[in-house]
Amino acid sequence: MTLHDQTFVVTGAASGIGAATAALLRASGAEVIGVDRNPAPEFPGTFVQGDLSTAEGVAAVADRVPHGITGLLNIAGVPGTAPWRLVLSVNVFGLRDLTRALLPKIADGGVVVNLASSVANGWAARSAEVARFAGAEDRAAALDAVAADPEVTGNSYRFSKECVRWLTLSAAAENLGRVRVVSVSPGPVQTPILEDFKKDHGRDKVEGAVALLGRAGEPGDIARTIAFLVGPGAAWINGTDICVDGGLGAHRATTAALAANA
Ligand code: NAI
Repeated sequence: MTLHDQTFVVTGAASGIGAATAALLRASGAEVIGVDRNPAPEFPGTFVQGDLSTAEGVAAVADRVPHGITGLLNIAGVPGTAPWRLVLSVNVFGLRDLTRALLPKIADGGVVVNLASSVANGWAARSAEVARFAGAEDRAAALDAVAADPEVTGNSYRFSKECVRWLTLSAAAENLGRVRVVSVSPGPVQTPILEDFKKDHGRDKVEGAVALLGRAGEPGDIARTIAFLVGPGAAWINGTDICVDGGLGAHRATTAALAANA
């Protein structure tokens, strides 16, 4: 696949899945504009150091992006070991507001890919609350409104990724026929964030899942999926989620169903 004459903005580009995606797109001929709060000295393209946790930080990053880009890949994310306000600010509002700011700069036929997570697969059960939070215009008020809800603050990472699933649907629906918007939901992938997931979700649970699958995902597993989604082979894939978890979801769903029948 060749992506010559195409430019992609890749957030979270200094590490893990973002770095692997940027490298793969570059190797496929695309120009890449990387964004991260951390520096990336060896970045294979233009690099914008910026903080997506605040509206001001998002605006500063968006200002540096030219018109006519092909796509935005929202890969930056923070784990649930971080303070819940930061998790929701980056994973929900940072992603949403950067998307809003850059959509007018995406050429017709372009694409947005959002990194969700397989932990958000049950998002539809909380769709009303998710839609209310993710759509809130006043982010400080929205954060205050959930501060007393332990279901949100105690599961901020899962809730944030449930919001990503909603934001993917709503942005796809609002941009039909012009820009596709899809999400990717990885299972456990070997990047620096995986150690945080072990602390957040339980070491035994994460390591048990990896053992069951035979290996953790690699950043390249997700990068190749994203590269497919931005290319012509995915032209009719829109407003949906692609789960890339080695089959972990199949195991969990069948185990739960069989246990319920036992
Ligand atoms: P990572 O920790 O290697 O990379 C995340 C990147 O996001 C880092 O470079 C970090 O500096 C950047 N970032 C965080 N906060 C930022 C901010 N305020 N402004 C700008 N950049 C910021 O983790 P990984 O695995 O590459 O994660 C990429 C995405 O995939 C995340 O959204 C994560 O939630 C998601 N994901 C990862 C899984 C895994 O097992 N590794 C599983 C499911 C989802």
